[in-house]
Amino acid sequence: MNVSTAIETRRAVKQFDPNHRMPAADEQRLLSLAILSPTAFNIQNWRLVVVRDPALRQKIRAAAWDQTQVTDASLFVVLCGDLRSWERKPERYWVNAPEAVQKFLLPAIDSYYRGKDQVMRDEAMRSCGMIAQTLMLAAKEMGYDSCPMDGFDFAAVGKLINLPADHVVAMFVAIGKGIKPAWPKGGQVPLAEVVINDHF
Ligand SMILES: Cc1cc2nc3c(=O)[nH]c(=O)nc-3n(C[C@H](O)[C@H](O)[C@H](O)COP(=O)(O)O)c2cc1C
Repeated sequence: MNVSTAIETRRAVKQFDPNHRMPAADEQRLLSLAILSPTAFNIQNWRLVVVRDPALRQKIRAAAWDQTQVTDASLFVVLCGDLRSWERKPERYWVNAPEAVQKFLLPAIDSYYRGKDQVMRDEAMRSCGMIAQTLMLAAKEMGYDSCPMDGFDFAAVGKLINLPADHVVAMFVAIGKGIKPAWPKGGQVPLAEVVINDHF
C-alpha cells in the first residue's frame, strides 16, 4: 500500500474484533515504524504506554465513556509526552552528529525549553500528534484499522497508568481488526477554507 492510499483509506473505526491478537512481530514492526516520527530537536519526547492487562483496559474504558475500542483493540496505546526528555541526556539525540553541530545544538535545546512549561507541553502534544498519525498509517498498510481518541478523563487515565508528574497524557490510539465499517465521512470543509495564502 502506498502512502496516499493509506491516507485515503484510514478511518476512525469504532468496533474491533475483541478476539484478535496482534502477532508480536506486527507489534514490533508497528512500534518501530512509529518511533521514526519526527520530533523537534530530535528529543523523542513521546512515551507509548501499551496497555496489555485486560483488567486495566476495562478500567480505562470506564474512564473513556465506555468506548469499546479501549478493550477490543488488538493494540491499545496511551500516547504520553515526557515534558523533560529535552534534559535527559540530550547528547544521545545527536550522538551521530559532528562535534560542531553537537556544540551548537545542545545549548540551543536547553534554552528552548528550560523554564518554559507551555513550550514543553506544546512540544509533547505536537510530537504525540505526529506519532499518532504515523502509527495509524503504518497500521493501515499492515492490514489494521485504528481509532485516535481523546474522549476520556485525562486525570483518571493518568492515575491508572501511574503517569509521572513530569509527563502528560496526549491521546489514545486503538489499533485492531475492524468488524464494522467506520461511520460515513462526517463532512469535509473545502480546501479553500482551510488553506490561507500568505496571511489571514
Ligand atoms: C484527537 C482525536 C480524538 C478523537 N477522539 C475520538 C474518540 O474519543 N472516540 C471516537 O470514536 N473517535 C474519536 N476521534 C475520531 C474522529 O471523530 C474522526 O477522526 C473524525 O470524525 C474524522 O473521521 P475519520 O478519521 O474516519 O476520517 C478522534 C480523533 C482525533 C484526531
